[in-house]
Amino acid sequence: MGGEKTGLIINDPPYNMRVGNANTTTLSKVNLASYLDFTKKWIANALQISKPNTHLYVWIGADYKDDFQPLPDFMLSMRAFRDFSPKNFITLRNQRGYGIQKNWMWARQELLHYVKGNPDFTVIYTDIPKILKGYHKKVNGRVTENLERSKSETIRPGNVWVDVQQVFYRMKENVPGCYAQKPLKAIRRIAQSSCKAGDLMVDFFAHSGTALMAGELSHRKVYTFDIDPIFAEITIRRLEHYRKTGKTGWQWHNPFPEIDRDLQD
Ligand SMILES: C[S@@+](CC[C@H](N)C(=O)[O-])C[C@H]1O[C@@H](n2cnc3c(N)ncnc32)[C@H](O)[C@@H]1O
Repeated sequence: MGGEKTGLIINDPPYNMRVGNANTTTLSKVNLASYLDFTKKWIANALQISKPNTHLYVWIGADYKDDFQPLPDFMLSMRAFRDFSPKNFITLRNQRGYGIQKNWMWARQELLHYVKGNPDFTVIYTDIPKILKGYHKKVNGRVTENLERSKSETIRPGNVWVDVQQVFYRMKENVPGCYAQKPLKAIRRIAQSSCKAGDLMVDFFAHSGTALMAGELSHRKVYTFDIDPIFAEITIRRLEHYRKTGKTGWQWHNPFPEIDRDLQD
């Protein structure tokens, strides 16, 4: 970072679970102590590059087959970093479920929000129309109802996001081989609410490059990296592909077409 600091970090570390076909050692499972050691190191790094007023968002999972780790362990680890205080606990509706025969369908994705200092927050709105009337309140002696008082026809996102579609292979933004890909809409929402156009945002775990793409679409500067050179390459290719074609992903097409060509030769 060359000494540069950021006011927005959006980190999506591996969840210490097997993901998809576990096609990479960087998305596999280690013992909890090693995982927490890794966690503490990246949180310390996040602290080091953060401005006095910073938002930190962390995507995290809970494995019910293993004591719900690492969600509660992560929350407890964060208590050692008093500069970051909890701000919110967001859940996205994630429509890829498992355990549906003998369990409630697992349809959630957790997103923790911490802040350092008192960073700006811009109110933004969803596309969901306001449908509930009521909430009467007297304004200048006149009884008004919420729809006439409100600034927008649509509702604000609360901390349960039901309007963000989990990425799957039919979506234009899908990047084949990236089993932990997060929806662009979610990261754009974070960028638009938690930093201004032209500001820097940072993501330590690029994977399919969603944060980089969200920055491109929302006119924010992004620094991102991935320990796995394949995901680092995919991230670069995704931005180049967008700039060339206007497409945000490859749907089910291969981001490495040269490999298909080599196999045919
Ligand atoms: C859960 S995925 C991130 C998903 C991303 N938000 C997206 O939407 O595509 C986690 C990524 O972290 C990478 N990773 C694992 N350990 C890392 C480390 N120590 N430093 C940087 N990246 C790492 C993995 O290779 C993987 O691509």
